[in-house]
Amino acid sequence: MIVCVCNNVSEKKIHQAVAMGVTTMSELREQLDVGTCCGKCAGCARKVMRECMDSN
Ligand code: FES
Repeated sequence: MIVCVCNNVSEKKIHQAVAMGVTTMSELREQLDVGTCCGKCAGCARKVMRECMDSN
C-alpha cells in the first residue's frame, strides 16, 4: 500500500526504514521524504512506523 502518494512511499519502504534503524518521524522524513509535500500522509506514516516498531 502507498502511504505517501506525493513521494511514492509504500508501507514496505517504511518497514525497511525501521529495519535500518529509523525510530522517529524526522528520521523517516529524511530517509524517504515522506510527508514533505502535502503532508496528508503524516498521520498514516506515523501509524505504520509505530505498528512496525511495536511488532519488533
Ligand atoms: Fe505524503 Fe503528500 S501524501 S506528502
